[in-house]
Order: sequence, then C-alpha cells, then structure tokens
Amino acid sequence: MSDFVIHFNQLTTMLARHKSDWQRLPFTCRALPWPELAPVLEHLAEAELDALEASPEQSLSLLAPYRPDLMFLQAMPVPDLNRAPDYATPRWSSGIPGRKWAQIRDFAANISAVYPILEWCAGKGHLGRLLAMEQQQPVTSLEWDPGLCHQGEALAGKLSLEHDFHCGDALAADAAALFTRQQQAVALHACGELHMRFLKHGAAAGTQALALSPCCYHLIDGQHYSPLSAAGQQQDLQLSRHDLRLPLQQQVTGGERVRRLRHTELTWRLAFDELQRELTGCDRYLPLPAFPKQLLSGDFSAFAHWACERKELTVPAMIDSDRWLMQAGQRRLLIKRIELVRHLYRYPLELWLLLDRVLFLKEQGYRVTLGTFTDLNNTPRRYLIQAHRH
Ligand SMILES: C[S@@+](CC[C@H](N)C(=O)[O-])C[C@H]1O[C@@H](n2cnc3c(N)ncnc32)[C@H](O)[C@@H]1O
Repeated sequence: MSDFVIHFNQLTTMLARHKSDWQRLPFTCRALPWPELAPVLEHLAEAELDALEASPEQSLSLLAPYRPDLMFLQAMPVPDLNRAPDYATPRWSSGIPGRKWAQIRDFAANISAVYPILEWCAGKGHLGRLLAMEQQQPVTSLEWDPGLCHQGEALAGKLSLEHDFHCGDALAADAAALFTRQQQAVALHACGELHMRFLKHGAAAGTQALALSPCCYHLIDGQHYSPLSAAGQQQDLQLSRHDLRLPLQQQVTGGERVRRLRHTELTWRLAFDELQRELTGCDRYLPLPAFPKQLLSGDFSAFAHWACERKELTVPAMIDSDRWLMQAGQRRLLIKRIELVRHLYRYPLELWLLLDRVLFLKEQGYRVTLGTFTDLNNTPRRYLIQAHRH
C-alpha cells in the first residue's frame, strides 16, 4: 500500500470520527457544541481568540489534549518542491502583481516540458507565456473571457512567442478535445469543477504530464462533492459545498481597515439575526446574501432597515441598536470559539481533497507527486500535484 493510500485512510478515519467538530454551521449555533471544551474556550477573551486564529500551531497545541489524534498530522508533511532562483521582473511582467509573479515563477520552476503545453483556465496566460519562453515548446492557453484572451494574445505577439489562445468554455464537452497524449498540461489555480475536468480529460486522453494547483474546492456542479478516486468513493465523507469552503477559510491579513470592516460585518449580520428571530418569532438562523461594503459605513439601524427589506420583514418603528449589538457581541465570541475548533480541520480536509485527486491519478496509471510549489506568503493555495504517465 502506498504512503498516499495509508495517509488517505488515516485522514478519512480521523475526519469521520470528528465530523461533529468541523461539519457544522457556526452561525446556526446558540451555544458551544462541545461541553468538554468549555473550560479551555470559554475564558478566552476576543483578543486571545484572534491571536490563536492567527496562529494555527498555537491553537493546535491548545486543543490537542482534547483531540490527540489531530497530532498525527505532524507526521504527514507535504514536501517543499522547487522554487524559482529569483523573482526578477522582466519588462513584460509589469502588469502582474508581485505575489502572482512569484507564484508563476515558482510553478514554472517545477515544469520541465518535453511536449507542447496546454494551459487550462489561463487568465491572460502569464504562466503560459513564461513557459513558452523557458521551455521552447508551443503553448495553447484555454480561457473563456475574450478580453483576457485578446490581452494575452497581444502580449505573446509582442514577444513573438508560439503562444496561442483558445477562447472557449472549459466545462463544454468539446474542451476534452484539447487534451492529447504527447502533451504537458498545466492548471494554476483552476477552481473546483474546472480542475476536476482537467484531471478527468487529461487522464482520458492519456496526457503524458499533468501539473495542477487546485483552488476553490466548493465551486463544483451539484451541492455535494463526488470523490474522484475509487478510494474516496468507498470512504465518502459526504462533503457539502459549505464543508468544501473550510480549507479556504484562512484569514488573509488585510491591514487594519479590512480587519475593522470584517468585524463590523460579522457583528451586524449577527445583530440582524438576533433582531429577525424576535420579529419572526422563529428561533432559526436567517442568512443574508453578500452585500456592498458601503452598507457598513452608516449605522446599524440603517443596515437593519436594508436587511429587513431584503428579507421582506416589516421594519420595526424603533430599532434598539444597543440591545441587538450587545447580543451580537456575545454570539461573535461564540462563533470565534467554534471557528477555532473547525479551523483545526482546514489542513486535514484540504489534504484529504488533494489525496483524492492524487489517488485518482494513480488509479489512472500515473506516477504522482504532491508538494508545495511556493511560499505561504505568496498564496495559501500552494499545493502542486504532478502526474507523469509510466
Ligand atoms: C483563478 S483564475 C486563474 C487564472 C490563471 N491561471 C492564474 O493563475 O493567474 C481562473 C481563470 O479561469 C477562467 N475561467 C473560469 N471559468 C471558466 C470556464 N468555464 N472556461 C474557461 N475559463 C474559465 C477565469 O476567467 C479566470 O481567468
């Protein structure tokens, strides 16, 4: 049995055993769902909760005595792969933000192509362009946004590269025809269904080399995840789209203004939820959709008016903002305590999803490696699956 299979089985057992830790909707909870964790979580003040949230190692060591089987993950490291020797910026890279450039350079440092290259969901084809230069192979970039295709074509034209764009839908049936046997296919940050198709089409075509960095696991067809591998299908964790978002819930440090906006949004959403429970007499969470951030620049009363109208509730004549905001403060702490526990499972769940993809490729006859291609401060979505036909 390969290490991948052993790790996958261990992860499945652990994740299944602790489903009640991570498979829940924190906004719907009115009390801490784990009485045994109350002594350690309930005395934590908000600043301590925020500090723990920012430090996964510290939250793991705080909670490990209560969930000792999480510690075995320490013995399951994913290796660092190649990194680019430098991040020098040629003139043509001027429009690419610094962290994106580092990701592209690092991804490319792991590609050694002996066949023409297919770039899946390419955007402006920055990665494809770099590969066209470095690998001396023709590159075809698939992208469905005509504007991005034109910009990518213009950039390739200026550099006289053998780099073409195929402007089309990766989810259309005819996209499968882009894959051939003698090919290196690459996908950097292709979202859920898009990269699942990439793997299926590549395997069906017998494509020699595949390189994928997945993201947005939750953007799939259907409400539930269908594992790709036979092992995953046998040990299906029945993951909902909400579960699939968990690996992506890493706080991106966004400065003080972003932090304050996030705080206000969470508080006001919860304050509205408290208010609507009283208005409707129904003790059930009522989610609000995403909304423009400028709604957070007024006061809570104006926000509550907007939310009531949105949910077709009669707006009360007087809104006691202090009361609802105080109740929301208590729930905000509760949510942060619950999230601290859920977030222990971000990495195990992402690893499970990655290994499902790895095992699928192995079942299809590929030699497969899994590692990180770039540093965490460039992007948290930094896993690279590479597969070569035997
Ligand atoms: C997250 S971006 C990644 C772009 C590029 N690979 C990178 O890493 O910078 C995903 C790209 O996929 C494209 N895309 C989304 N859905 C698509 C579809 N159905 N067919 C083709 N391209 C699609 C988007 O327009 C976007 O450019």
